[in-house]
Formats: sequence, structure tokens, C-alpha cells
Amino acid sequence: MQTQLLSYKRDGDKAIEKATSLLKKGEVVAIPTETVYGLAADATNSEAVQKIFEAKGRPSDNPLIVHLASKQQLQNYVLPYLPYVDLLMEAFSPGPITYVLKCKDVLAKEVTAGLDTVGIRFPSHPVGRAVLQASQLPLAAPSANLSGKPSPTEALHVWDDLSGRISAIIDGGASDVGLESTVVDCTGASPVILRQGKVTEADIAQIIPVQDKGKQIKTTEQPRSPGVKYKHYVPEVPLLLVNRPEQLQTVMQAEKAKGHRIGLLLSQDHDHLLKDATRVYHLGDTEAVQAQHLYALLRAMKKAEVDVVIAENVSMHSIGSAVMDRLRRAATRVYD
Ligand code: TXA
Ligand code: MG
Repeated sequence: MQTQLLSYKRDGDKAIEKATSLLKKGEVVAIPTETVYGLAADATNSEAVQKIFEAKGRPSDNPLIVHLASKQQLQNYVLPYLPYVDLLMEAFSPGPITYVLKCKDVLAKEVTAGLDTVGIRFPSHPVGRAVLQASQLPLAAPSANLSGKPSPTEALHVWDDLSGRISAIIDGGASDVGLESTVVDCTGASPVILRQGKVTEADIAQIIPVQDKGKQIKTTEQPRSPGVKYKHYVPEVPLLLVNRPEQLQTVMQAEKAKGHRIGLLLSQDHDHLLKDATRVYHLGDTEAVQAQHLYALLRAMKKAEVDVVIAENVSMHSIGSAVMDRLRRAATRVYD
């Protein structure tokens, strides 16, 4: 299959029309969102959704998020929910948050992987939204990477993973957030965060009415989000995550003694370490920039250049907590 690379900048609405017509025919198209690129198909069409799983090599027990253009479409797909869900939607949507809700029996069964819930998201990226609006379809879309690889934050990442396997990619520039959406289970008395993202536990706590706060907003460690149990974001070379800065030097010397070429993934200055490194990957100064850069850097770590990458921990403030979560999942070994 020849994958068409459409560009919103170059082709404007023509790119949206082309993508929409492919999606309506049951084809799979990668679209930009503000978090990461998504691999979209009509969520009501089983055959179309199956193509997503084939293209990604994704395990079929891992459900997909359904993307909608507007809240008006919501009641077509989900059962009645508690009032706090409306409050969260008013505060954070469109944007980088996914709500897990009880679903009606109208979506392709492959989307929910047999669960009675569905993850719903309203993306804010203008190009992703334009496709949703023009097609008026509910679009099932996981991140547009090969299963196990870091999520794509640029059209080129999607091309590297999936060219020849999908019908088209719309290039809409680099994703602004850089990490996948916060997934929130909204089926219980209070929200439970299943996957961390830009919208944090503290952000959500501000929205929930005071009388409900006693029930506590939680972030769960259990793999209640089926996808969380799989190995994710794996770079080509082993990644060692070092949580205490004073240990960086020791870990580096041990790797050097093995004759390894060392890459360093850093967010702070460590001038004394640089002489022993073959390559330094700069993650950036602020939490927001670190989130934007992380996946592109994980993809840039190549066997041809380094044998191992040693990463330092980052601030846990705001989206930093989600950056650390992804670093931990990407790591072969964590030094706590
Ligand atoms: O930002 C994002 O969420 C991106 C963009 C493209 O929207 N999408 C994305 O999809 O990251 P994916 O498939 O890579 O991750 C979806 C996560 C998985 O961990 C999956 O297990 C979880 O959401 N999920 C989906 N439906 C669920 C459900 N009904 N219950 C619990 N977890 C669910
Ligand atoms: Mg993914």
C-alpha cells in the first residue's frame, strides 16, 4: 500500500477533504492531535478498526479511545453519567483528557475490546478537529506508532513506523503537548486517573465540588487501563533511569568499564559528566518543553551511535509527573 503524505500547511482544506473521504471508505488515516498523532478509523466500522490493530501490531485486548468533534455527539455513544463529568468537560475539553464512561452498544466491538466502557476524547488540535467535524464520524484512534515504540509527535515519526501500512498521514506540525492524554475513569463516585498526562490530579481536584473531595481523586497504579500493562516507549538501546543525581557518575563509570558508548539524557548542567559521554540529548528546561521533546529524543537514540543511555530524573511538577511516568516505562532499569 502506498501511504499518501498530506500536508495541512500546503494543501489546506484539500488535505481535510481527502482524509475525510478515505475515513468514510473505511480506510485508516494518521491525524495530528495536540497530544500525539493518532491512527484514526471510523469507530462504527469493524473492518476499519481491525486495520488499526493490524497496522500497529497492537494486542486486541487493548481498547481504543474514541474521538469526537463535539459534546453534542456524546449521548449517541455513552450511558448517563455523574454530574462531575460535565464539570470536567467544561474545564478541560476540548483538550488532552480522555473520559472512560459506560458505553452504549453502537461502536465496533474491537474498539472497546469487550469492555462495557469506552474512552472518549475531544481533541483541540485544529487539524484533528477539522477532520472530526468534516466527517462527523466518531474516530477510534490510538497513538500512531508501531506497538511498543514511543508515540509520534511529528508526521515524520508516523511515516517511519507506518508508511506502506496505512492509507494516509496528515502533517499538521509538531504536537504541542507531546505526551498522550490523561485517562480518567469516570464510572465511579469520583474520578480515578488511569494514565497521567497534562491534566494533573491537582487540576482535577480543583474542579470537583468540595463535598465530593472527601472521596479523593486517585491515581491508580493497577493496570485498570489495559494498555498500561504492556511495555511502552522502548528506545533502540537500553535506558537506565537514575533518580539520585549523585549516582549518575557511578552508573556512568560502571557502563564505561563495560566498554559501552554512553548517551546522556539530561535536563540540567552536569559539565563534569560530559567528557565520558558519546552523545548528550537535551530534554529541555521546563516541564512543558521536556514533555514536548521526550518521544522525539527516545526515537533519536540509535544503536549505531550509543550502547546505553543514562537518564536523570526530572521535576514532578505539573506535566513533569507524566514525563517521569513515561521515563519509568521506557527504562530497562531504574536506580531509585
Ligand atoms: O492522547 C491520546 O490519548 C492519544 C491521541 C491519539 O488521542 N491516544 C492514545 O491512545 O494514546 P492509545 O490507544 O495509545 O492509549 C489509550 C489508552 C490505553 O492505555 C488504553 O488501555 C486506555 O487508554 N483505554 C482506552 N479505553 C479504555 C477503557 N474503556 N477503559 C480503560 N482504559 C481504556
Ligand atoms: Mg499508545
